Amino acid sequence: MSKEKKHFIEHIENYKPYWGRFLMAAPSPAERFPFLAELIKLLSEKNKFLRILEIGSYAGASAVTIASSIKKYNNGNGKIICIDPWCFSPAVNLQKNTFFDTNDIDIASYTYEDMFHHNIKASKCDDLIQPIKGFSGDILPILKENYFDLIYIDGDHSYDGFLNDLKLSHSLLKEGGFICGDDLDIAFPGILQAIFKFFDKNVSDYLGFWCQKKSATNWLDINNLSGQENWILDLINKDSYIESAIRDFNKILETNQWTKIIIYGGGKHTKRLFTQFDLNNVINADVVGIIDDNQSITEVAGIPVEHSFDIDADVVLISSDNYEEKLIKLMLNKKKNIPVYGLYSQILINE
Ligand SMILES: C[S@@+](CC[C@H](N)C(=O)[O-])C[C@H]1O[C@@H](n2cnc3c(N)ncnc32)[C@H](O)[C@@H]1O
Repeated sequence: MSKEKKHFIEHIENYKPYWGRFLMAAPSPAERFPFLAELIKLLSEKNKFLRILEIGSYAGASAVTIASSIKKYNNGNGKIICIDPWCFSPAVNLQKNTFFDTNDIDIASYTYEDMFHHNIKASKCDDLIQPIKGFSGDILPILKENYFDLIYIDGDHSYDGFLNDLKLSHSLLKEGGFICGDDLDIAFPGILQAIFKFFDKNVSDYLGFWCQKKSATNWLDINNLSGQENWILDLINKDSYIESAIRDFNKILETNQWTKIIIYGGGKHTKRLFTQFDLNNVINADVVGIIDDNQSITEVAGIPVEHSFDIDADVVLISSDNYEEKLIKLMLNKKKNIPVYGLYSQILINE
């Protein structure tokens, strides 16, 4: 059984949100999501209740980002309507062949619609989310005008389909509301062209995330989003998530009979592992070293931090949430023959 398959089954069975590679559930590119979260924060300063419309929800990453942000910034006061036909399957065959045995009909028949429902429930966001199964062209005309505070468009990426979504969304958005979306990117010429046609100008672009504010007379740019609102942090930094991630890591240590660990990352996350989660006593292995590239970090929870990668160990534990992917790659480049485990994504790379 492939690692990704185990990872997938484990998340589905234990009711944890799954943002892995099967069915391309991983949100991509994740660095755009903080801007979406930041718009929710801005809206929360002026609105007691937020009404959001999402066109194109796929496996739920953007919907969960919006819902988590409403919980964080607006005391959970809001509702998100998610429109998607959930009827396409370009990813299914590809992923089935890549990750699953051909006889795994039970799992291979799991759809991205199933994944959406799993993820919004497992992230405890389903209370704010109302899915409507259908095409935007059919649903938008029956929604209430001047009603939504934010419309996020990430459905049909063709010129005609996307332009139609922009046109239909216009009258649904309240004055002062935000219209925004994903993939303002050369890979999607239809989106670039439709945006230019609709707004008649270049619009604010944040790493491919775009947004405009509706005023009485025209569309306004938003020029000051910082992108610091970290949706991943919000989703996974909860104590219960980390406790279960440590337990899972311990099972992996026991199964492989690994007894020596190096931790990569000498920041606040690692400190928390020792001070709050008592890592030394919870896992059945020894932390033989903590490594960080930053020379100014000298210790974590009383343990010296090293800047050399020569330490010998059975596995490297990556301890950083939003830089996890980057650190995994760096570590694999530096120490080619050692397994690497990402605590937050719970992915083991052992090649
Ligand atoms: C890029 S994915 C959305 C990703 C999602 N917003 C996220 O970031 O997590 C595009 C989605 O749009 C949906 N879609 C395609 N055409 C659509 C349409 N006309 N109306 C609504 N959704 C559509 C697809 O089924 C697919 O789930």
